[in-house]
Amino acid sequence: MDTSNEKILILDFGSQYTQLIARRIRECHIYSIIIPFSTPIEEIEKENPKGIILSGGPSSVYEDGAPHCDERIFDLGIPILGICYGLQLTVKHLNGNVEKSEEREYGHAVLNVKNDCPLFSDIKGELNVWMSHGDKVHALPDGFEVIGQTENCEYAAIQNTEMNIYGLQFHPEVAHTEQGLEILKNFCINICSCSGDWTMESFIESTIADIRQTVGTDTVILGLSGGVDSSVSAALLQKAIGDQLVCIFVNNGLLRMGEAESVLKLYGDNFKMNLVYVDATDQFLDKLANVTDPETKRKIIGHEFVNVFDEESSKIDDAKFLAQGTTYPDVIESVPISGNPSALIKSHHNVGGLPEDMKLKLVEPLAQLFKDEVREVGAKLGLPKEVVWRQPFPGPGLGVRIIGDVTREKIHTLQLADRIVIEEMKAADYYYKVWQAFAVFLPVQSVGVMGDQRTYENAVALRVVTSQDGMTADWAKLPYDLLGRISNRIINEVRGINRVCYDISSKPPGTIEWE
Ligand code: XMP
Repeated sequence: MDTSNEKILILDFGSQYTQLIARRIRECHIYSIIIPFSTPIEEIEKENPKGIILSGGPSSVYEDGAPHCDERIFDLGIPILGICYGLQLTVKHLNGNVEKSEEREYGHAVLNVKNDCPLFSDIKGELNVWMSHGDKVHALPDGFEVIGQTENCEYAAIQNTEMNIYGLQFHPEVAHTEQGLEILKNFCINICSCSGDWTMESFIESTIADIRQTVGTDTVILGLSGGVDSSVSAALLQKAIGDQLVCIFVNNGLLRMGEAESVLKLYGDNFKMNLVYVDATDQFLDKLANVTDPETKRKIIGHEFVNVFDEESSKIDDAKFLAQGTTYPDVIESVPISGNPSALIKSHHNVGGLPEDMKLKLVEPLAQLFKDEVREVGAKLGLPKEVVWRQPFPGPGLGVRIIGDVTREKIHTLQLADRIVIEEMKAADYYYKVWQAFAVFLPVQSVGVMGDQRTYENAVALRVVTSQDGMTADWAKLPYDLLGRISNRIINEVRGINRVCYDISSKPPGTIEWE
């Protein structure tokens, strides 16, 4: 889906910061996409980019098997900025010299900048920058000059204005580099002549036009879960094709208290979407009866979802498309370089699982967007804050938050405890500051005393974590009085629970969910 005439291409050589480069450029209102370093030159030309950025990466340019792009990109006449490995690669390709340096340079350095060059216009003369490299440039190719130096790095920034090729040994995309965003903006605007008019409104407009063109008069099916991605996809598609969108919302009986009602109210009543509601609670819970193994539970829930969804979608005769809330991080191909941390970070919770023989074509209206951009689109389309800033909720729902077998009674108990957690987190203004906050039902009975009565009831674990992306997480250091309020309310208000514990494990080695 082409969303702008002006585009910056980022060739990914495997740096953990590559996605950050794309985000920073989009923050400058310029559309940017990440493609593998090995992308053929013909495809690069077809994208018609205003500029090309070569990312950093964990390899050494002179090693066997080091990733190289097609050398012809240096002859296209399109402005190029090499960052870290990208700079070293540029130097090597153009016959300069790169060697292993005695010491790895990692962390802060002070850069002295030459200001009368387009990359550093309006940049301070001295900048704190972030370095992370083991190799160093020892000799520049012909026609290049130094435009920035640090104490340890003679060629920290270089340019060849004739060829429009620039290089930075430091990382302008990371927050630790002062004025890094301005440097990237200078590249895109001063050097690549981008106008910087890419906005979420323009993205929404062009995506709507694309959807209309792709879908024509056909019907699109979407599995609505109430989560951010499926909600924003639904809102965008509805704006594009109105009643041609049919949303299927499956209640698996493992949702939060009141969740099904609020989804029906918001999308059915408010947005007037074409909504098929299937209450499959009995079907799911019957299949889950007496099952205790976490993986088996997950498989049953996933399998039943496919069954129900398949059956409902087969009733929609003229459906030709299936919409999915895939986002950009799901799409970006990881660069297969050993030691590439971004290659290791792969979600194991893909929506997936839909039958391969389902003869529907995919529509993925959010496939170009990062999560925060998805939220921005949602807000612009009028979705309420509770939806746009919702915490992640696993597909198998409360099924993986009830340890052991799942019964209606345990679900009800957990729903009550979960509601208290959310209410108190919101009241204390902590709900939107953490990644997730929820209760876990533990089938462990312990002795307590209530009034004059001895009790022998179950326990609840409280799990509240902070995280950037769910891949790693830390337990949240909540104030004691907030923890106390949550615990008191659960024990007083939820029948069957007489003990609340706080989970203080980080991820890794723990996971966020308990099953
Ligand atoms: P873990 O428990 O693996 O969870 O640390 C990481 C993040 O993923 C969410 N999660 C899921 N999301 N389907 C989903 O859509 C799933 O099966 C699933 N399991 C875990 C979890 O809530 C956390 O945000």
